[in-house]
Amino acid sequence: MGKTETVTADVPARVPLGIERLGIWGSLLKGRRNVLELIPELATRAPILSGTTGKRWHMLMDPEALRHVLRDRVEDYPKSIVTKLILEPAIGNSLFVAEGAEWLWQRRTAAPVFSHRNIAALGPVMTHAAERSAARFAAALGRSVDAFDEMVTATFEVISDVTFSGGDAFDRSAVHKAIEGYIGQTAKLSVLDIIGAPAWVPRPGRMFAGPGMRNMKRMADQAIEQRRTSDRPGIPDLLDLLLAGEDPKSGRKMTVAELRDNLLTFIVAGHETTALTLSWALYLCAFDPAIQAEGRAEVRAVLGERAATTADIAQLPLIRRIVDETLRLYPPAAFLSRTAQKADTLCGREIRPGDTVVLPIYALHRHYSLWTDPDRFDPSRFANPKAIPRFAYLPFGDGPRICIGASFALQEAVIILATLLARFKFTLTPGKAPKPVMILTLRPEGAVWLGVETA
Ligand code: HEM
Repeated sequence: MGKTETVTADVPARVPLGIERLGIWGSLLKGRRNVLELIPELATRAPILSGTTGKRWHMLMDPEALRHVLRDRVEDYPKSIVTKLILEPAIGNSLFVAEGAEWLWQRRTAAPVFSHRNIAALGPVMTHAAERSAARFAAALGRSVDAFDEMVTATFEVISDVTFSGGDAFDRSAVHKAIEGYIGQTAKLSVLDIIGAPAWVPRPGRMFAGPGMRNMKRMADQAIEQRRTSDRPGIPDLLDLLLAGEDPKSGRKMTVAELRDNLLTFIVAGHETTALTLSWALYLCAFDPAIQAEGRAEVRAVLGERAATTADIAQLPLIRRIVDETLRLYPPAAFLSRTAQKADTLCGREIRPGDTVVLPIYALHRHYSLWTDPDRFDPSRFANPKAIPRFAYLPFGDGPRICIGASFALQEAVIILATLLARFKFTLTPGKAPKPVMILTLRPEGAVWLGVETA
């Protein structure tokens, strides 16, 4: 490794992909800094890469093989043990981490909660958060703002308002602090932990079982108990819907602990990922002022001065394409990992039980055999979504374990991005280009500094 590629002026910030082969301690240690640097340049050109670093692993970039792992043979490729070790302390055996029957009944119970109708009804919460975010940007006119920090605030408002709103048991800022602390801890993990940790790597489980986490769970339990005994007026939120829900097959309902673990899952899985999408989208708009201007013209024609609502989304196709293209270039879940249970063959390669199968979404989305000029920002690629091969574009995964919150996230991203573009012009801050760093999610190192002007 060591050699990095020069970033050309006409492509937005990218991770310099290492060009040497994996398998050397030196490169693994480098991975402590940035997992994406470990994805060799080859990963954007080959269908599969395999190696042994303590454990046998394979990286899959071939859409057919991805379909096999994520959809056709999902039982043979459960989420990797490490994913579970990392997430379980915070979110228990909830929807995100459970497998088999334990997963299935929770998915059946939660699926109606995320129906199109229920998510559309939560639009006003998103519009309100967009208004408040616009007010904070207005107060910062003429200055450089950390768009990531701002978007984390906005998306946390949305997710906490649709999970634990209305009660007095839930201290929003304490929960936000506990979750940020937890995400900060996960940032200390590396590819070593994901590919197969040697014994000396601290067990992630122990790292996360702090008092902040216990306190957060206690507060969530109280908020659920409170809601169970007193009706909340207005549109049902995710907690109301999940409280009322039951598994259509068995009639089983969630206990307080199961409700709490799933709601905390929605917060952990949903808020930073959406904030990342929005801050990378604002960065890309600043990077390409012509597209930003086109987006603004579209939004203004539909909204004039008001904030966007769910009903506007159908009239904002370019904003949606900007979001889609952002998720291609900077997929927040930049790679997924699975542990093979059975002997199998993928792209002609032997897979043995216990092998780690890595799905490097970042490399898939920039693969030369799947995309023209892959590093370029070009929302028009999504003008006809049907033209994109399904397993070549996986920001939300696919198959039965596909993100349950995808339409929630897309609705929120379009509403907030449209509202902000209508009112502000975003510019790059010289000398402060964001650097994508991959830990568990793909994050900008430090911040996304953007200049904010009246549009
Ligand atoms: C842009 C924002 C988001 C991105 C990029 C994203 C990405 C993903 C991905 C890639 C997966 C599949 C993981 C795997 O197969 O290993 C996933 C699963 C999941 N996501 Fe999201 N997500 C986002 C927003 C949300 C939101 C807003 C929520 C909830 C409100 C949410 C809740 C979940 C849950 C519960 C799962 C597990 C589903 C299951 O296994 O049945 N996500 N997400």
